[in-house]
Amino acid sequence: MEKYLINPNQKIAKINKDIYGSFSEHLGRCIYEGIYVGENSKIPNVNGMRTDVVTALREMGLPVLRWPGGCFADEYHWKDGIGEKSSRKKMINTHWGGVVEDNSFGTHEYFELCRQLGCDTYVNGNVGSGSVREMSEWVEYITFDGVSPMAELRAKNGHKEPWKLDYFGVGNESWGCGGNMDPEYYGCLFKRYNTYCRDYKAGEHIKRIACGPNSGDYHWTREVMDKVKHHANGISLHYYTVPTGNWNHKGSATEFDNNEYISTICKAYKMEEIITNHLAVMDSINPQKWVKLIVDEWGTWYDVEEGTNPGFLYQQSTMRDAIVAALTLNIFNKHADRIMMCNIAQTVNVLQSVILTDGEKMVKTPTYYVFKMFKEHQNNTLLGSFITTENIKSKNDENREFPQLIESASIDENGVIYSTVTNTSSTKSAKIKCQIADRKVKSLRAEILTGECHSKNDFENGDNVKVVDFTDFKKLSDGFTANLPACSVVKFIIE
Ligand code: AHR
Repeated sequence: MEKYLINPNQKIAKINKDIYGSFSEHLGRCIYEGIYVGENSKIPNVNGMRTDVVTALREMGLPVLRWPGGCFADEYHWKDGIGEKSSRKKMINTHWGGVVEDNSFGTHEYFELCRQLGCDTYVNGNVGSGSVREMSEWVEYITFDGVSPMAELRAKNGHKEPWKLDYFGVGNESWGCGGNMDPEYYGCLFKRYNTYCRDYKAGEHIKRIACGPNSGDYHWTREVMDKVKHHANGISLHYYTVPTGNWNHKGSATEFDNNEYISTICKAYKMEEIITNHLAVMDSINPQKWVKLIVDEWGTWYDVEEGTNPGFLYQQSTMRDAIVAALTLNIFNKHADRIMMCNIAQTVNVLQSVILTDGEKMVKTPTYYVFKMFKEHQNNTLLGSFITTENIKSKNDENREFPQLIESASIDENGVIYSTVTNTSSTKSAKIKCQIADRKVKSLRAEILTGECHSKNDFENGDNVKVVDFTDFKKLSDGFTANLPACSVVKFIIE
């Protein structure tokens, strides 16, 4: 029996709701088809946005959406995406599939989408191929409420009122697709571009996000932090879970053996090490901890589904992905004191998406259900907690070990405790005994997402994997015991 302790007396930090954010790029069928179908589509929509997808994302509690990229952001010229749709410039999306981008989804459409979703906004600007003026004018176009050329242009294009811009990214992956820069050079560019992105509305600061490292590149973090520490609110880390560790043969999303399953989980757990190490570097340069960590691209990355455009990054999603999502979100919760926002890549039809679409059809992936289960953590206070666990060894990763169980617990304003426990083993169940320090348990409810690790939701069978009530527990006066099935995510609601 594993021991699980939750300490309501130890209130660690508020869990920023934006840790549960998502990312939507002009890539494959994410924006076009997946989210935006246009007003004239026979797919039910409001102002061009798919009603089924918007409804599902609202129910999932999506708090913030990053747009327009990714690599696309550093090739995107925002003025091509405003005004009359028929006269918007067309371009080739050279990064993603070589298809024509007709710019029918642009700034106005993004803010309309976020309005419908009721979520915060995170726009990523172009440093790689854009000018300082272009970036400056975009922020002016979005947020300025006075007399100015960009505010006038926005009004002429049908939106007199400015929008609220919560986060602004100054470049994306500037170490790679965003310009192949050195960190020192990028750090200086960040300061220059950022200077001209004004806060136009008194009391409304746009949080500035500097391009951070690729997974374990601590040199990048050190150099960029040194330059941006007085200017940026956050620095963004990208880390993807590639089961084989080989970008040329990443592995299949649906066909994998147990060693590959274990290796996937092992690689997903690397997030903990990477975050801890980057935070240590950040703290050494900015001990006041003004600059927060953002993880604005994360998730599993497999070989694309057979017969699909390799540049569209379309992959199916299984219970394995749900376990990756649940363990990663528990890691993010545990770092709530330093992590401001995270954005899974991506929202619809790309990489570890929460939704898949096929024409009129839509399906929610197992990952979707994890986000829905975890949504009560948003804006709660993280509690001190600890669980004993066996370790699992990954043969494919030089016998590296990772914990079978991982959890986090939070408390809401009414004193209700939410605990999310993940059993990452694909074969072994786990018995746990939980004790809540200094607290009598009045009532206990629980929900579970579980299935064989290959289980998935698809257009033929619909929601095969979904959240159901969990009853294999016994309430005790100061806690509970429970039996967690293999490959499961369980949420306990403790009053
Ligand atoms: O999410 C897909 C791509 O991965 C993004 O465009 C890029 O930033 C990253 O390399």
